[in-house]
This record gives sequence, structure tokens and C-alpha cells, in this order.
Amino acid sequence: MIVVTGATGGLGGTTVEHLLKRVPADQIAVSVRDTAKARHLADRGVRVRQGSYEDPAALRDSFAGADQVLLVSGNDPAADIVGLHRNAIEAAVAAGARRILYTSQHGAAPGNPYGPSDFHIATEAILADSGVAWTALRNAAYGPLGQVLGPWQQTGEIAQPQDGPVPYTDRADIAEATAIILAGTRSYDGPVDLTAPTAVTFDDFAEIASDLTGRTIKRTVVDDDQWVAAQLANGWPEQLARLMFTWYQAARAGYFAEASPLLTELLGRAPRTVADRLAADLDT
Ligand SMILES: NC(=O)c1ccc[n+]([C@@H]2O[C@H](COP(=O)([O-])OP(=O)(O)OC[C@H]3O[C@@H](n4cnc5c(N)ncnc54)[C@H](OP(=O)(O)O)[C@@H]3O)[C@@H](O)[C@H]2O)c1
Repeated sequence: MIVVTGATGGLGGTTVEHLLKRVPADQIAVSVRDTAKARHLADRGVRVRQGSYEDPAALRDSFAGADQVLLVSGNDPAADIVGLHRNAIEAAVAAGARRILYTSQHGAAPGNPYGPSDFHIATEAILADSGVAWTALRNAAYGPLGQVLGPWQQTGEIAQPQDGPVPYTDRADIAEATAIILAGTRSYDGPVDLTAPTAVTFDDFAEIASDLTGRTIKRTVVDDDQWVAAQLANGWPEQLARLMFTWYQAARAGYFAEASPLLTELLGRAPRTVADRLAADLDT
């Protein structure tokens, strides 16, 4: 049995869709906070049980019979995320899972200023001590490009702080590769990077966007403090604005620069490029 957490979220949900193409539904289970949101999966023969990382007993029940558990990292910055992940890892071990796969982050390394990096490193350390085989899927940045670049189609400029090279990746490609690993026979031990094959900067984006639209799209570097102030003016809580700013610091320090061929190998095709994704996002 393959048990997937976070299956009512973006990455976990798409992973289950890809698993259903590769594995009989009665070999797939999901552990979700709200089972009503997973009715579409129950209707297709997937075992649906309630489980939240705050509730070890529910987790153990929802992981029962697991051969592999995909632990999707939590997303509440106010929570003790490492403690919640520990609960989930302990429940997976107690359920007798042979392997735990965890959605970590590309560039997770000591010293990386991007806030979530530390909780991913700490979770990987718990996995390493768990006594069970584990895989950390260090997923590249996969946020929607509209969010990453801002309203460039309206303004004609990509106005963001100083950045650095990042292999921006399509979340659906990462989900498909995750399903391929879960359903396959090859074991991946420890951390592996799932990234698009090429790292690009906002300068590259401006060039690609200019080619796609036939307009001149400028890249404008926004002052760091002005960027944070603008997010606050847009209504972001200060903690979130400061957290997101650390992402630029990490990018410009090169923590996300390294791309890996593994995603391409797993998919057996080229992952979607940023040009493909920008073209799909163009206003009609
Ligand atoms: N690499 C990247 O670019 C990137 C970007 C964004 C996030 N992430 C990380 O990767 C994770 C998955 O990304 P995503 O795009 O799938 O995010 P998402 O759509 O927000 O999904 C997160 C999933 O985690 C579940 N979850 C959160 N806290 C939980 C808890 N305490 N107990 C049980 N389940 C919990 C959520 O449950 P509900 O469905 O009940 O809400 C949801 O299904 C995120 O949570 C975050 O840690 C990575």
C-alpha cells in the first residue's frame, strides 16, 4: 500500500492522479485532514482516512498497512512544523512502512537564508535517524509564474528584488515524477533534487517574455526595503513579507542555482520549460 498525505493539496493531489495511472486503486491510500475533500478519490477505490500531523493516533490509523508513505511537508509558518513532521515520521515507522518519502526543498543546506530550509533540514535529520529507508524529494521552486514575476503583462516589466539562477519547475511534473518513484522499483536513498534542467534569472525571463509577446519586457531591480514595504502596503503580514524576502537572498547567494537531470530521466521527456509556462499564461 502506498499512503499519500496532503492529497487534498496541489502536489499530493496530482501525485495521486498520476499514481492511479500506474497502480491499482486498492493499492493507494490517502491520509487527509478533511475526508470530505477526498470523496472523489474514495469514489475511485482509493482508501481515504482522516489524519493530521497534530494527531499521532489518527496518523497511525491512516498509515496502517503502508509499505511506503509520502509525507507532504506542512505549510503553516505559525506551527511547530518539525514537531508535526516528527509525529508523521514516527507514525509511519510504527505502521511498518518500508520507506518514507518526504517533500523537501531544493537547495536545503545549512546556511541557506530561505526560512523553510531549516525545517526541511531538520526533518531530513529525523528521517535519517528513523531507522527506515527514506527519500527526500528536494523539489525546486514551482509557484505559479504570475506570482513569481508579478503583473509584467500589464506593466511591461519584471520588477522584483535582485535574484539569482533558479530552475523554476512545473508542480505537475514534480508530482508525476513522485508517482513514478513511488510506483517504480528503483530506490532513491537520501536527498534527490527534482528540478527543471535549466536555471534561469529574471533577466532571462524578460528576454523570453519579450520573444513570446513581441514587446520589450524590462527587468527592473527593486530595492530590498522598498519591496518589503510594497508587500506590507499590499496587505501581507510582516512575517510573510520578511520570509519571502529570504527567498531572494537565497537565490542571489546561489543556493538554488544547481539543476539536476533526474526529473527529465524520470519523466522520460523534457519537463515543461519556463517558456512553455509563460506562453500558457499569456493573456488572450
Ligand atoms: N517547492 C516549492 O516551490 C513549494 C511551494 C509551495 C509549498 N511548498 C511546500 O510543499 C508542500 C506541498 O506543496 P503544495 O503545492 O501541494 O501545497 P498545498 O496545495 O498548500 O498543499 C499542502 C498540503 O499539506 C496538507 N497539510 C498542511 N498541514 C497539515 C497538517 N498539519 N496535517 C496534515 N496535512 C497537512 C494540506 O492539507 P489540507 O488540504 O487539509 O489543507 C495540503 O493538502 C507545502 O505544504 C510546502 O511545505 C513547496
